Amino acid sequence: MSSSDPVSTDATEQVDALRAAIRHHDERYYVLHDPEISDTEFDQLLRRLTELEAAHPELVTPDSPTQRVAGRPVDGFATVEHPQPMLSLDNAYEEAGLTAFDERVGKGLDVDPGTPVAYVAELKIDGLSIALHYRDGSLVRGVTRGDGVRGEDVTSNVRAIRGIPLVLKTAVPGDVEVRGEIFLPRASFDRMNAERAEAGAPPFANPRNAAAGTMRTLDPALVARRGLGALLYHLVEQNESDPRGDPERPAGHSAVLEQLAAWGLPVEGHWQRCEGMTQVIAFCREWAGRRRALPFDTDGVVIKLDNLADRARLGQTAKFPRWAIAFKFPAEQATTRLLRIDVNVGRTGAVTPYAVLEPVQLAGTTVQLATLHNAEDIARKDVRAGDIVLVEKGGDIIPKVVKPMLGRRPTGDAAPVPFVMPTVCPECRTPLERAEDAVVWRCPNDVCPAKIRRGLLHFAARRAMNIEGLGEALVNQLVDRELVRDVADLYGLRAETLERLERMGSKSATNLIAEIEGSKRRDFAHVLFGLGVRHVGEGAAELLARRFGGLRGLLGASLEELAAVVGVGPIVAASVRTFLDDPANRRLLDRLAVAGVRMETDRVAPVAEVEQSLSGRTFVLTGTLASMSRAEAKRAIEARGGKVTGSLSRKTSCVVVGVDPGSKLDKARSLGVETIDEQAFRNLIMADDG
Ligand code: IVH
Repeated sequence: MSSSDPVSTDATEQVDALRAAIRHHDERYYVLHDPEISDTEFDQLLRRLTELEAAHPELVTPDSPTQRVAGRPVDGFATVEHPQPMLSLDNAYEEAGLTAFDERVGKGLDVDPGTPVAYVAELKIDGLSIALHYRDGSLVRGVTRGDGVRGEDVTSNVRAIRGIPLVLKTAVPGDVEVRGEIFLPRASFDRMNAERAEAGAPPFANPRNAAAGTMRTLDPALVARRGLGALLYHLVEQNESDPRGDPERPAGHSAVLEQLAAWGLPVEGHWQRCEGMTQVIAFCREWAGRRRALPFDTDGVVIKLDNLADRARLGQTAKFPRWAIAFKFPAEQATTRLLRIDVNVGRTGAVTPYAVLEPVQLAGTTVQLATLHNAEDIARKDVRAGDIVLVEKGGDIIPKVVKPMLGRRPTGDAAPVPFVMPTVCPECRTPLERAEDAVVWRCPNDVCPAKIRRGLLHFAARRAMNIEGLGEALVNQLVDRELVRDVADLYGLRAETLERLERMGSKSATNLIAEIEGSKRRDFAHVLFGLGVRHVGEGAAELLARRFGGLRGLLGASLEELAAVVGVGPIVAASVRTFLDDPANRRLLDRLAVAGVRMETDRVAPVAEVEQSLSGRTFVLTGTLASMSRAEAKRAIEARGGKVTGSLSRKTSCVVVGVDPGSKLDKARSLGVETIDEQAFRNLIMADDG
């Protein structure tokens, strides 16, 4: 189409205007955290642009906001050399380390002792370093740190991070490299781990590991979904040893940070220019206490000389620049008295001990409860009620008891006694049971009130039946008064009954009844998830609902048919079959159906069955796989009819070798068993994924 074509001109203008608007709102949202329009309005802009581009494919450009995830998973990452090595930082763990650094800097620059040097103090973001290359203002490449000299080209994943602009706001000619950190905000981390737990995948230990794991995946769409963020803090000088060579460039680091922000790049806003080390130390002290208020994890403060020419004069050692240092925050630990050890009964009957503590301030919150894992762990650490214990924000999520302070253990009559795991359920007094090789004790009673309460809360949860207003206080009353014994009883409740409960007016009672009524229309995928069948998370429930269409199809499915659903596997399949074969559960399902709860799904798209391409073959997994967890790899093999075992023998068909494989690799070689790397393994399981 010629540019004089009126339609084309019109479309070009519209496309340009939409792109400018989307970029603007992306910056407001992801960089400045101050959106001007609602998510719905934003989605409308993006949709209009997508439609226009579909109608005028000739107008699509690589830096259009629609092209962040261009739908092409990559085969692997190429390694590329950094134009200048990506250095690490020297650390200081005490304030004395900062003073010593200040003295070294002063000496190196030959300033009079006592004359304050100007520094910039920035929060140290706990993520993974990234180098972004822009050419004439367009993002052309993203590279991980790697070994500092060579990193991996992760451009496709970097493009999927919404906070990273594909084009800079102001014209920046030529090649520019900016460096910074990619991280996972704590809220995204919590959401992601909740999803993993439901899918039966092991949780990530902390946001940093999760961010690193995400960047290693070969699927940009997944990166986009996980909600990674980026913060930039370094502009690579074309000629680092002589920054004065470019008259346009700022002379100080503080001006660089302002420059980066003016380009539309995300910059952490709490940095501070400090005149001398005393101000730096005050900044470090302040943030050691305030760090929890941030939406991301920070593990310290980075202190950098402000003047860029002075930086060049100081230079660097083999590993670190001499002009910067990282101050690491002290570990967040506290001591307090362990008042007692209680046990909690979960939805599946798992009985787990936890610590009740004398309230203590830790990481910005008051801590009164902490995890103790299981009875064996308590015995191993010799933690006793009455001890003074050391508590820590473990993995930075839930506090855990690290150890008892044995030197402070009371003696004589007040001496604490070892913990004894109860032998009966604290709720219903049923003797606890545990599988032979398990550490978890369970209450086997199906009508245990604690299990019922948890089961009801799970059923009512937003991602299950979404019954708003059915919270803990109400569930407790309903169960205690025996008004509800299972999820089907909810559908027999009447407003008059609810009104008699505490803190229940007639309005809330009517609303709750309407909510319960409304939940009957939920899709069967939600119903199945809400039933709380062991091992059936939201994902598996959805897959099963899609494949079998609803309850009737599910009831008719054999164990093999269940296990053949991609992403389901034998453990989930067995659990579903056991659940469905239990007459009590069948009665429950009947009652739900009679009450009018939907037992079909709208999510019709049938999932193709996977060819049993690995049937009869036994696999051993060793080392860490970059693109998937061990559980995912296992599921993928089992879904294709293969078996996974932990022990390697001549009968093993194949060993999948990840990073840091350990002794199994040597053993496989000596036994002559086939070994394949991650890529070959992916090919094996991708072949039939279409
Ligand atoms: S400056 C040569 N500033 O911490 C300058 N690094 O432990 C190098 N980091 O490799 C880095 N926040 O990945 C700098 N505000 C910040 C930072 C920061 C996090 C990371 C970075 C570096 C590591 C060193």
